[in-house]
Amino acid sequence: MTEQQKPIRILALESSCDETAAAVVEDGRRILSNVVFSQIDLHALYGGVVPEIASRAHVEACDRVVDQALQRSGLSFDQIDALAVTYGPGLVGALLTGVSCMKGLSYALRKPLIPVNHIEGHICANYLTSPELEPPFLCLVVSGGHSHLVQVPDWAAYTLLGQTQDDAAGEAFDKAARVLGLPYPGGPRIDALAEEGDPAFLKLPEPKVEGRYDYSFSGVKTAFLNAVNRLEMTGQPLPKADLAASFRHAVVEQLVSKAMLAAAETGARRIALAGGVSANRELRRRMTEACEAAGLPLYLPRLELCGDNGAMIGSAAYWRFLRGETAPLTLNAVPGLRLV
Ligand code: KG4
Ligand code: ZN
Repeated sequence: MTEQQKPIRILALESSCDETAAAVVEDGRRILSNVVFSQIDLHALYGGVVPEIASRAHVEACDRVVDQALQRSGLSFDQIDALAVTYGPGLVGALLTGVSCMKGLSYALRKPLIPVNHIEGHICANYLTSPELEPPFLCLVVSGGHSHLVQVPDWAAYTLLGQTQDDAAGEAFDKAARVLGLPYPGGPRIDALAEEGDPAFLKLPEPKVEGRYDYSFSGVKTAFLNAVNRLEMTGQPLPKADLAASFRHAVVEQLVSKAMLAAAETGARRIALAGGVSANRELRRRMTEACEAAGLPLYLPRLELCGDNGAMIGSAAYWRFLRGETAPLTLNAVPGLRLV
């Protein structure tokens, strides 16, 4: 990547799910502002994200969040070089809100608009956390909607090595949490509860998957549900911490073993984690141990950059901006957008 004389500042918006988030990022590496408006309180009542409520909340929050991000960056619109927006994957209404907002701004300000893939954004959160990180590296992307093992051979270039055959890791955590009666989003709650529990309490099955680097979490989830049902029939209080620890252990074990297998077999020189589930304490610990044992540097996104945020979109947009990849005003949301 060639050195830029003048810094490139990008104002980015993320609205693919239940966070309305905007940020200003300089040269894909430095966060000048990062504003995240979470809708969790609006959805908690329903035990999950309600798409219609999410879209409405994004419409109400978009302008304010973008304004705040600009204000906190200390810049004016004149000093912004480009705009960026997540256009997929995600909830169609939620994405459309963000895309429309940034298309309007792009037209009014006559500034280029860069379309960003949400999963690519998660991967790029690592460039913000670790200024020295450069491709090539192997990335384990684990979020509420995706569980991918991705090779990153170059800037904004990706090869898919494996993915989940059914549930995403975050989705599995959320479902297991619901079984234990924990509120949405369940991933962080299971993680916290598991810290006090015994992971050996319940042995959960290892999945059978065809692809060497593919994942599967539905069998673990069903076995967990059955075990909880059996325990409930005894009329005794559920050992929730032990159950949470056992579930977390099974999911993390699978994530770590496949990632390390892929790293060894593809000759990866460094590994990164990305996505909401990369905040998981056990996953961070186990990957740290495994990478130390394998002599591979590990890159973990800062905790506040693991979940959805605008800064990761601003970083991802930078590498595409350098290549002149901008969107026409006909840009549409693509809910099922793939990384590769
Ligand atoms: O990346 P993200 O914010 O949104 C998507 O792109 O999906 O990921 C959200 C997911 C949720 O399923 C949430 O429960 C999970 O990440 N999550 C966690 C933890 N923190 C968030 N799962 C396990 N342990 C955590 N500490
Ligand atoms: Zn996400």
